[in-house]
Parts: sequence; C-alpha cells; structure tokens
Amino acid sequence: MGNLSELEQAKKRLIMTGGKGGVGKTTCASSIAVRMASQGKNTLIISSDPTPSLSDIFEQKVGDKETRIKGIDGLTALEITSEIVLKRWKKKFGPEIYEVISSFLPVDYEIIDYIGTAPGIEEEYMLDFIMELVESGRYDIVVWDTAPAGHTLQLLDVPNLFITHLTAAMRVYMGFTDYMKKVQEVTKRAPSKRSIFDIIKSWQDLSLRVVDFIKDPKNTEFVLVTIPEALGVKQSERIIQTFDKYGLSVNFLVVNNVIKTIDSKFLESRKKMQGEYLDYLYGQYSKRLNILEIPLAPNEIKGLERIRQVSDILFLDQTD
Ligand SMILES: Nc1ncnc2c1ncn2[C@@H]1O[C@H](COP(=O)(O)OP(=O)(O)O)[C@@H](O)[C@H]1O
Ligand SMILES: [Mg+2]
Repeated sequence: MGNLSELEQAKKRLIMTGGKGGVGKTTCASSIAVRMASQGKNTLIISSDPTPSLSDIFEQKVGDKETRIKGIDGLTALEITSEIVLKRWKKKFGPEIYEVISSFLPVDYEIIDYIGTAPGIEEEYMLDFIMELVESGRYDIVVWDTAPAGHTLQLLDVPNLFITHLTAAMRVYMGFTDYMKKVQEVTKRAPSKRSIFDIIKSWQDLSLRVVDFIKDPKNTEFVLVTIPEALGVKQSERIIQTFDKYGLSVNFLVVNNVIKTIDSKFLESRKKMQGEYLDYLYGQYSKRLNILEIPLAPNEIKGLERIRQVSDILFLDQTD
C-alpha cells in the first residue's frame, strides 16, 4: 500500500478525482485539498458533479462563486454546473460566432443557444473553464472533484466527439459559405474579419491544448476512487482501460469504505465479500498503481475535523 505524500512535493497544477457515484470522490477531493492548503498551497477545490456536494462536506454554502472555506487558510471552493459553463461559453464565444454567421445569414442571436447544444461542447468548455482557473495563476493547485464516471469518460472522449462534431459542422458551414458568397454578391457586404473556419480551427486548437495539459503527468494527477464491491470494481476497470486508450495515466487507486472493525456477524460477512474484491484489485493492479485504503467510518465524513482524519489516512504511510 502506498500513500499520496508524493503529491505534496510534486508541482502538479491539477488533481482530479474520479469514479462511480457515491464511492467517495468528494470525500477524497476534499481531503486532498485540505491537505494541500495545510501545506501552505493556495488551493481551489471545484466540484462539477450535478449534485452539489462541497456545501455538504464543508458545512457551509459554496455555490457558483469562489468561496473561502472557513476554519482553514488558503482553501477556496467552487461548485459549477453545466448551465454556468454554457453561459460562460456563450459570453466568451457567442459574439464572434454570431458576427460570422449573421454576416451571411439572417439569424437571431438564439442560433448561439442552438450551437451550444452540440455534442462535446459542454464537456469541452468545462475543461476550458477549469484550465482558465488553473492557468490564471491565482491558485497553486486546483483539485477537481469530477462528475461520476460516465461523465469523466465523456470528457476524455472530447477530442473524438469534437472531431465528429466538427466534420458535421464543416459540412453545414460549407453550405453556408456557398450561400454567403451568393449573398455577398448581391449585397456587396464586406466579409467578416474571421471566417467560421478560423473559429472552428481555434476551438480545435483549444481542445487539443487542454487534452495535452491533462495528459502531461507534470501538470495533472488523476486519483481513481472505488469501493470493494462488484459495481465499483467494474467501473474502475473501465476507467483504467479508457485512460490507457487515451494515453492518460492513473497512478493512485483509493479503495474507500473498507471494513476494518468487525463487531457483528453482518460486518463479518460483508468484510468477507470485500476481501474478494480487494484481493482482485491488488492482484490486478498493485504492480502498476499505488493502492490506498480508507476504512469505513461509523459516521459520514463531514466537517473539517473528519476530513482531516481522512487526509491523514491518505497522506501518511499505510502499512499492511
Ligand atoms: N470512509 C467512509 N466512511 C463512512 N462514510 C463515508 C466514507 N467515505 C464517504 N462516506 C460518505 O459516503 C457518502 C458519499 O461520499 P461522497 O464523497 O460524497 O461520494 P461521491 O462524491 O463519490 O458521490 C457521503 O455521505 C460521505 O460522507
Ligand atoms: Mg461527489
């Protein structure tokens, strides 16, 4: 068994937690963020899980504005939703897209809403949003508590989704371009400064840049969280396979809710069940991953004191 202490020295800019819903991603992300802040790093924890969770665990309202966490220096939290991300995308890119399209088509500004629903856009700009925070230099480290596994996998698939979308979009815009030429001949309107192709190209560059950043182990660490049960184990295997496929590395696997204390027949039989999955995980992954365990607590993990206890478990040496 390993621990996360090498993350304290490493100059990573982004740490992501991922895994199935309910396995303890927010618990781990918060414990990591609290640890980083205690080490004097100016830390931002972001959750993009549609079910707001940072407010619960830190027992204070967080929401969509960067909020200082009380009781600990250097920790800021932020809960983002796809609506906020889409709104921001529209603000950032809406005017330039509208300028181009409206130069040759009589369209309302609502066309931007329509384009915003294209597949991959949401995930793409979620990444863009996070990257802007990372690159703003306002924080030493950003800990990103990602949405449940399905979404995370989609994030990784962004370049693919995006290329598919681009191909389709190109075809549509090609049609637009012919139409535009005709309209321009008739109206003699000056062509727009940037063509739609320039814009699409810049989106594609953005997408590749973000994925490059996430793929670079100098910048990014991904902590996979699971529980010793069939569904948790299956999901983790899928995530590891997908990561392999996209050339991303996972170095840490946290196994949460591990039963350590047995004071009933009930727990004894659950511990036995967990043992099989733990054996499987160690057999399969202990060579390539640091596997860490968090014991099942008799209580929820809420409030700084309990989060700190989990930090200690994750960052101090675990011995078999
Ligand atoms: N080791 C643990 N022992 C007891 N309860 C835990 C443990 N880890 C997490 N929990 C509780 O389980 C619930 C789900 O954890 P959470 O971190 O929110 O999962 P996720 O973010 O993956 O959905 C929360 O109520 C949390 O307090
Ligand atoms: Mg969560």
